[in-house]
Amino acid sequence: MGIEVVVEGLTKSFGKQTIWQDVTLTLPAGEVSVMLGPSGTGKTVFLKSLIGLLKPERGRVLIDGVDMVSSPERKLHEIRKLFGIVFQDGALFGSLNLFENIAFPLREHTNKNEPEIRRIVLEKMDLVGLAGTEGKLPGEISGGMRKRAGLARALVLDPQIILCDEPDSGLDPVRTAYLSQLLIDLNARIDATILIVTHNIQVASTVPDNIGMLFLRKLVTFGPREVLLTSEEPVVAQFLQGRKHGPIGMSEEKDQATIALEAADFDDEGLPPIVPQLKPSPGLPPRQAVERRRARVMGMLHELPYAAQQAILQSIRERR
Ligand SMILES: Nc1ncnc2c1ncn2[C@@H]1O[C@H](COP(=O)(O)OP(=O)(O)OP(=O)(O)O)[C@@H](O)[C@H]1O
Ligand SMILES: [Mg+2]
Repeated sequence: MGIEVVVEGLTKSFGKQTIWQDVTLTLPAGEVSVMLGPSGTGKTVFLKSLIGLLKPERGRVLIDGVDMVSSPERKLHEIRKLFGIVFQDGALFGSLNLFENIAFPLREHTNKNEPEIRRIVLEKMDLVGLAGTEGKLPGEISGGMRKRAGLARALVLDPQIILCDEPDSGLDPVRTAYLSQLLIDLNARIDATILIVTHNIQVASTVPDNIGMLFLRKLVTFGPREVLLTSEEPVVAQFLQGRKHGPIGMSEEKDQATIALEAADFDDEGLPPIVPQLKPSPGLPPRQAVERRRARVMGMLHELPYAAQQAILQSIRERR
């Protein structure tokens, strides 16, 4: 079963540049979460901090009682085996073919024999639709195939926590829809805790149980999908609707004068209706996280905004 990831008061800087501060959130066990945020807000830095590759100055990341910020390397190595990570750039070894790339974590972290390695690698390649490409080098395949190879490699150790850094970037809309379904199906099969960093609104609105957003060196929000998808918070609404109007500009934040000018001639069309979350493909077991999440979200219902409460109650009625 997936493991909960507890982030408390996390602050990360590089020299004088603060990337984000005081980030506090919990990735609930076995649920799927998405982290949104404009380019450069530190999403990749956040993922790397969760696995202890980068060291925040303050705060803790607790996984199975181990703090990924302050624990010694030996302990981190052990906990990292629980993770499957899809890096933003794929991070495949250019001189190794796909088979060897995907087999790499098995050779690095386990004593499995060759037939076993072969069975696992081929199974994961099949799962992500790469059957038959074992002998290809990363340079000989498309960007989308490299993404899927990165995902296959992240799965070979049967991870309990999966981190995906923009798994959809460079994919066409059809491939993105397949990928979204693949992530939900994966969650139904193995009940892993999943965190996806994405800019893709289609993915953000159909895949996760929870959504968070980083902006201006802060975690603006993190919570059940219904809260974000019905949010009137300008930065959240702007991002989810891909509008130019709002606080997010080309480089980062806009100045107040520009925001006021735009607001003067902007017609708010209101929020689009919230799209239903994807369900596992026919034949798969139901996601175990659904029942746990329902209990969790019902427990916090009274703290949520009215529109989010309505959306949650509606989605529960629809599932019945
Ligand atoms: N190792 C590093 N040393 C110094 N600065 C860094 C380092 N890694 C990242 N940064 C800086 O941290 C900031 C956040 O970078 P990050 O890659 O996390 O952004 P991001 O939100 O993932 O953006 P994108 O959506 O474009 O991938 C950037 O300003 C970047 O230059
Ligand atoms: Mg990034």
